[in-house]
Amino acid sequence: MTRFSFDLQGTDGSARTGVIHTPRGQIRTPAFMPVGTAATVKAMLPESVEATGADILLGNTYHLMLRPTAERIDRLGGLHRFMNWDRPILTDSGGFQVMSLADLRKLTEEGVSFRSHVDGSKHMLTPERSMEIQRLLGSDIVMCFDECPALPADRKRIEESMRLSMRWAARSREAFGDRPGHALFGIQQGGLEEDMREESAEALRAIGFDGYAIGGLAVGEGQEAMFRALDFAPAQLPEDKPRYLMGVGKPDDIVGAVKRGVDMMDCVLPSRSGRTGQAWTRRGQVNIKNARHADDPRPLDADCTCPACRNYSRAYLHHVFRAQEMISGMLLTWHNLHYYQDLMAGMRAAIAENRFAAFEAAFHAARAEGDI
Ligand code: GUN
Ligand code: ZN
Repeated sequence: MTRFSFDLQGTDGSARTGVIHTPRGQIRTPAFMPVGTAATVKAMLPESVEATGADILLGNTYHLMLRPTAERIDRLGGLHRFMNWDRPILTDSGGFQVMSLADLRKLTEEGVSFRSHVDGSKHMLTPERSMEIQRLLGSDIVMCFDECPALPADRKRIEESMRLSMRWAARSREAFGDRPGHALFGIQQGGLEEDMREESAEALRAIGFDGYAIGGLAVGEGQEAMFRALDFAPAQLPEDKPRYLMGVGKPDDIVGAVKRGVDMMDCVLPSRSGRTGQAWTRRGQVNIKNARHADDPRPLDADCTCPACRNYSRAYLHHVFRAQEMISGMLLTWHNLHYYQDLMAGMRAAIAENRFAAFEAAFHAARAEGDI
């Protein structure tokens, strides 16, 4: 059986390209993971998600434990079979989503108790329960149970939270056990402070994980501050394991993160903004609601090979958005996910050929021209 492993194949400055091997297939890195929170990437069939070039999806412990429950998904053969996606799935552990979505949260050393945002029912998430849920789901890459304060937060709060997350990381490791073919990733915390990030990285390295995430960023600090933290955080983590920046981001965030040594990312942005009429293209953001598209026979992006750009005009995309037709969210989500995957493929090739700086310059130059 294929074990979980990471092959680092090339570097260009701090940027890296490689392949993660799993029993469910390979993940080419740098990788972007579309978000399938509730066992679906909204508005997309799984085969369409695959056609955009995605190797892996992200699912959420928090949402799935509440509805339809991990036990039900397990009885029905696991998350892959349930949602008809047979490639790798990474699941987030629930701590982050509980703090942003649940009602009446209570945080203790043991874990977090809360009420469901769906029906008000009472639940408790602990490192042990999160590991159990992610096992029932059949997740290929399991995330440690952690806690993440919103920024800005004072140093004391960030330090206490980081140390709690490190104790939870040790409990997550213990509860996960030995599961060949499945990976457990640790999550570094510590806000924007280099010394706290180092303390966190040291704690995680001592426990030992199959991959290491950078958590606690993109939580209100802004791009400049995030990049300053990414100037040191990736290098604090083991070089021979994948590094995953959680919840990032816009295309320019992604390019800047890859430049600084990040291998994996996820974000709801391409799928969510597709449903609100926002498209992302080589030339930046396009708002399809805008009246200037109403008579425009040209595609959204003449260089894009996605179905929305090959087969439909801006005028049509504008019309179906205005008319609130379901195909609007379907086409724009497809385009956005295709654009994100194209961007990742472009970066992988550029790193492999040692021309990442030129790739980055061309990326920014096209955006500076703006949408025509
Ligand atoms: N998603 C975005 N940021 C985080 C984080 O810090 N922890 C977890 N578990 N998920 C995240
Ligand atoms: Zn397109």
